[in-house]
Amino acid sequence: MADTNQTKKIMLSGIQPSGELTLGSYLGAIKHWPARTEEFDCYYFMADLHTLTVRQKPADLRKRTLTQLAAYIACGLDPKKNVLFIQSHVPEHAQLAWVLNCYTMFGELNRMTQFKDKSIKNNDNINAGLFTYPALMAADILLYQADCVPVGEDQKQHVEICRDIASRFNSIYGDVFKVPDPYIPPVGARVMSLTTPTNKMSKSDTDQNGCVYLLEKPEDIKRKFKKAVTDSDTENCVRYAPKEKAGVSNLMQIYSAFTDKSFADIEREFEGLGYGAFKAAVGETVADSVAPIREKTNELLADKAYLENIYREGAEKASYIAHKTLRKVYKKVGLVPRF
Ligand code: TRP
Repeated sequence: MADTNQTKKIMLSGIQPSGELTLGSYLGAIKHWPARTEEFDCYYFMADLHTLTVRQKPADLRKRTLTQLAAYIACGLDPKKNVLFIQSHVPEHAQLAWVLNCYTMFGELNRMTQFKDKSIKNNDNINAGLFTYPALMAADILLYQADCVPVGEDQKQHVEICRDIASRFNSIYGDVFKVPDPYIPPVGARVMSLTTPTNKMSKSDTDQNGCVYLLEKPEDIKRKFKKAVTDSDTENCVRYAPKEKAGVSNLMQIYSAFTDKSFADIEREFEGLGYGAFKAAVGETVADSVAPIREKTNELLADKAYLENIYREGAEKASYIAHKTLRKVYKKVGLVPRF
């Protein structure tokens, strides 16, 4: 937990509550978070301000933000050991973002590949927030003097611009910000689509049978696995060969991630049984493994007072650090302190 006699390094990550959590985000990220508290003081926040760069339905955004918080706790993130909060509850994020906007160059923002991609996808709403998004993300990170920022490959450029902004600011005003390192977790389990196993499993996949959600009903999960595309070879044999047998290999990865069985063990287990039996078994295992997470999430969502307590406490802890950094920044740039 964030304590004042800082011994552990600080890790921080933001997650946009812009969609449902997939099996891929669980196996690739969330599942590994609880163990990190041994090495780091961890901050995780729901980046709700970031989601406003794309139009959201207000009621959905509220619901997804709370569901995401509940799901993280259900996945084993202990709110006593991690600081869990909602970005908009800590106004220093927006306040520092304004200052950093003035230390971020138009040309730098114009080079961001995510801005280019999102401008194409939302070409009826290319708003200024979409453009200055990296300055807000830099504020998120720099407020907490984070050492380490775990992000997916797609966010690496944003951590790099954050480093540039921090260094630029520091070179003018002295050592105000810690310059953070990106941390791209090793892709232990890169989960592929069940229907197009050469593509990453993604919530934006047009074929919803390709994507399994963490909080999906067990019968839907089982159905999706039964329908999963296996390979068009005539072998009908469970064997790990990611190039020739992308579908089967993906299912083996998933099965192995949930059971800790090696590929050799899995091959032995399903020898002579064919794809049908294998797909059914993987579906059962996944459905059974995530069922407690779904139940726990729903239980937590029903207990509003508990969740409120968690995010209030989280925001309080976060504010304590964020406020200190913002105060220093305001002072350095020459704003008159109110107190
Ligand atoms: N931009 C990140 C994403 O879309 C979310 C995010 C916002 C974030 N602020 C952050 C990630 C700060 C790490 C640190 O995935």
